[in-house]
Amino acid sequence: MQQYIIGNWKMNGTKVEAKKLAASFLKRIQEATRPLPHVILCPSYPYLSTVVEVLKGTVIQVGAQDVHPEKAGSFTGDVSVTQLVDVGCMYVLVGHSERRRHHFETSHLIRRKIEASIQGGLRPVLCIGETAEERKSGKALHIIANQLLSDLPETFNTHQIMIAYEPLWAIGTGEVPTGEQIEEVMGLIKHELASRMGGGALVPTLYGGSVTAQNAAAILELAHIDGLLVGGASLKLEDFWQIINASTR
Ligand code: PGA
Repeated sequence: MQQYIIGNWKMNGTKVEAKKLAASFLKRIQEATRPLPHVILCPSYPYLSTVVEVLKGTVIQVGAQDVHPEKAGSFTGDVSVTQLVDVGCMYVLVGHSERRRHHFETSHLIRRKIEASIQGGLRPVLCIGETAEERKSGKALHIIANQLLSDLPETFNTHQIMIAYEPLWAIGTGEVPTGEQIEEVMGLIKHELASRMGGGALVPTLYGGSVTAQNAAAILELAHIDGLLVGGASLKLEDFWQIINASTR
C-alpha cells in the first residue's frame, strides 16, 4: 500500500500563505523523480477553496479538519459533508484530540461524523490516542481498543476510512513514543480492525504527534505504519518536503 502523508495546518496562516505553501509543495512533487506517497493537505475552512483551486487535477488531495454530522440545517458555525465535498474536499479529520478537548466531542458524536462522512463520500481519518496519565498507568492499549470500539461505525469498507494514532502527550510537544511503543499500538489497531472485518488490516494506519523532518524516516519504517499525520512541520516547506521524501512506499 502506498503511504499517506497528511498535513494538518490547524488554525494557522493567511490566504496568501496557504496558496503559496500549497503551490510550493505541488512544484516539489511535480519535479520529483521518485515515486511518492499520497499527500493530503488540511487547511482551515476559509482556505479550502483556495487550496483546492491550486491543487485541482493534481496528485495532492485536500481534506478538512472537522465536519458536522447533519446534512444541513440550523447549526450556526458548522460545515456539512455535502459542503466539504462541494468545495472539493476528499478527506476529513475526525475526533482530533484538540476537538475532543476544546469542544468536548464525545465518541457518540465522532461516530456520527464518521458515518455521515462515509455516507456523503468523504473519507474520514479517525484520530485516537491516549493521555500521558493513561500511558503512565499502563492503560494505553486498553484506551485505544475502547476508542476503536466506540468511535467506529458497525460497518464500513477498508477504502472508506483511515486511522491516525496520535498520543496526546506527543502532539506539539516534541516528545515522540519509542518505535516499540508505536509498533505495539499500531499492531493492536491492525489486529482489532482485522478481527472486525475481512481485509480490516488494509485500513491505512497513520502515526501523528511531533513528526519532524528528522524522525519521519525512522517512524515510516516501523511495522504497520501506512503514513503520518503531521501538524507543525507541515507548515514548513523544507520540513514537510523531507517528510514526504522519507516515505518508503
Ligand atoms: P504536531 O501535530 O505534528 O504539531 O505534533 C500533529 C497533529 O495534531 O495532528
